[in-house]
Amino acid sequence: MARRAAKTPPPPGALTPAAARAEHAKLGAEIAEHDRRYYQEDAPTVSDADYDALRRRYGELERKFPELATAESLTRTVGAPPAEKFAKVRHAIPMLSLGNVFSEEEAREFVARVRRFLGLSDDAALEFTAEPKIDGLSCSLRYERGRLVSAATRGDGFEGEDVAANIRTIGEIPQELHLYRGEVLEARGEVYMNHHDFAALNDRRAAAQKPKFANPRNAAAGSLRQLDPSVTAGRALRFFAYAWGEASELPAGTQKGVIEAFARFGLPVNPLTRLCANVEEMLAHYRAIEAQRATLGYDIDGVVYKVNDISLQERLGFVSRAPRWAVAHKFPAERATTILRDIEIQVGRTGVLTPVARLEPVTVGGVVVSNATLHNEDEIARKDVRIGDTVVVQRAGDVIPQIVEVALEKRPHDAKPYKFPHVCPVCGSAALREIDEKTGEADVARRCTGSLVCPAQAVERLKHFASRNAMDIEGLGDKQIEYLYHEGLIKTASDIFTLQARDEAGLTRLKNREGFGETSVNNLFAAINARRSAPINKFIYALGIRHVGETNAKRLARHFDDFEQLRATAGAAKPGSEAYAVFDEIDGLGPVVVEALHDFFAEPHNEREIDALLRQVTLEPMPAFEVSSPIAGKTVVFTGSLERLTRDEAKAQAERFGAKISGSVSKKTDLVVAGPGAGSKLAKARELGIEVISEDEWFVLTGQA
Ligand code: IVH
Repeated sequence: MARRAAKTPPPPGALTPAAARAEHAKLGAEIAEHDRRYYQEDAPTVSDADYDALRRRYGELERKFPELATAESLTRTVGAPPAEKFAKVRHAIPMLSLGNVFSEEEAREFVARVRRFLGLSDDAALEFTAEPKIDGLSCSLRYERGRLVSAATRGDGFEGEDVAANIRTIGEIPQELHLYRGEVLEARGEVYMNHHDFAALNDRRAAAQKPKFANPRNAAAGSLRQLDPSVTAGRALRFFAYAWGEASELPAGTQKGVIEAFARFGLPVNPLTRLCANVEEMLAHYRAIEAQRATLGYDIDGVVYKVNDISLQERLGFVSRAPRWAVAHKFPAERATTILRDIEIQVGRTGVLTPVARLEPVTVGGVVVSNATLHNEDEIARKDVRIGDTVVVQRAGDVIPQIVEVALEKRPHDAKPYKFPHVCPVCGSAALREIDEKTGEADVARRCTGSLVCPAQAVERLKHFASRNAMDIEGLGDKQIEYLYHEGLIKTASDIFTLQARDEAGLTRLKNREGFGETSVNNLFAAINARRSAPINKFIYALGIRHVGETNAKRLARHFDDFEQLRATAGAAKPGSEAYAVFDEIDGLGPVVVEALHDFFAEPHNEREIDALLRQVTLEPMPAFEVSSPIAGKTVVFTGSLERLTRDEAKAQAERFGAKISGSVSKKTDLVVAGPGAGSKLAKARELGIEVISEDEWFVLTGQA
């Protein structure tokens, strides 16, 4: 199930102004659409991480091409314009958003940034508050002479929707503030729904045959944006105040002090707000909040850190749409509970049967999830997962969502235990668990034995062959391969290279088919022809031999003079043979790999296919190590953001010049290449006296400038 990785965009500096403008406009439209889905429909379709990446690229383009940063730029706006149905309210002070950090390292960098900006030394006192980031929707409550006069959603940050009539139905929100009689006070915070009320609301909706809300945040947003306040009144909304807008006088000089005053005025405030004297205390409170997350009874998606001293907040100010004095430290993995409707089996490239859970769609971390992996047969048994069960789904970053556990107390009496199939659901061949000769235990994976007849394996093998790290045939993505395979136009990898000839002979008529215009077909042929010569290591990896990933492919390519030598040796490598012993010399290559190589190359069908491929493809040596390069044999760490290189490219370059790449700085590190934003690794390198160079210097050092 190899997924094709997205192409890394070129660095903004490599774009022409026209190309930058076009990309900026396209990204702008995409971001605006996601904003609309998120804010107006409460139905986001991208992960926060993907959204953040779009925003980041958009900002990068503007930094390189400042003429793109017009007044309409999305870097100057937050969210989407308000929906038409409510009256508009102009915020006296804009309602802004928050920047995010995703790791402790980034949180430390945030603190360091604040210190730098304020010119504070490392030991100067600097307090922060830390509090939960509530997953609801923000709202600004305007009190004049202590009376609630209006209430507005954030909208685009400048103008929101007037939801005062609905806000008045929320029992927790005071109509009048005790004790505060100043002219104006705008209290800002989050409207949310707790889990109990959310479940009850969805039950009522289900009974009334209305669609359920995907999560409490959507339920809160949908409820607050009701034109009929009597509907909102029945929806059990709640509120936490955590910030302010216009205020004729503030009741305190610190964040903590104002929030405590809010509580005295009768506004609900979050009890987990803490004052922290340093970053360690902030991180400790982050961990403490994270540990309580599941039992809080309402959704939170991180912890917000804020500079406590309001005069420092004012000095720090804002950058485009977020304050410099606050940041959201997001939780890594998101979890949600849903119902497992079915279990289906997917068959991968090597014939492994992978069980996939089909779920009642649920929003996990802002993304609707309807499938999750169950890994293998034993995992299903161990977790005792049954069809009809309520399960906890977890999503972390971009990895495939997983089932963490079953809520046994919610198991319906008719929940069906799952019987893992013993035949391949695609081709009907027997599916077996091999016994490991050494341990005598069955392999965790059950595999289809029909490797040569099973269409599922064939399609997955083709996808792997063409994928980015293998033969890298652009334009031959998963969809195209599935189509070409099922139409009978490509059955094996060598068929890819005969496609053009067959098409020109009038045998396939690709250009007349849906989705294959003249240009795209010509581009496809060009991309295929560009891979008629390939480095030997890529070719070995592309063959999809079990246990031969990129690293082992390189080990083999380095050891053997040419492909024919590898082929002959592997074909003859029965345990105990002379040929078998040849592989012993290769560092890091174990007996399991040798056995897999032997099985692969000794198989007559594979021999025929390799012959056919080698008639089409010329193999080149693996790009040689430049042993004479000044970094040969050294250990290099890249840190910070690179502008001219992607991480993959940087790694490939270092390897080409004979250097080893490491993810962390230690005494063994020889060189650190630091880009903007480099944090603790850079600091460590300085501390250890390790040479640090810039990305540009890297190009000079490696003779590429
Ligand atoms: S402070 C100027 N504190 O998160 C700073 N925001 O992603 C204003 N949010 O727009 C925000 N909990 O809707 C702050 N404890 C908290 C929060 C919080 C949730 C929301 C708020 C904000 C969004 C940014």
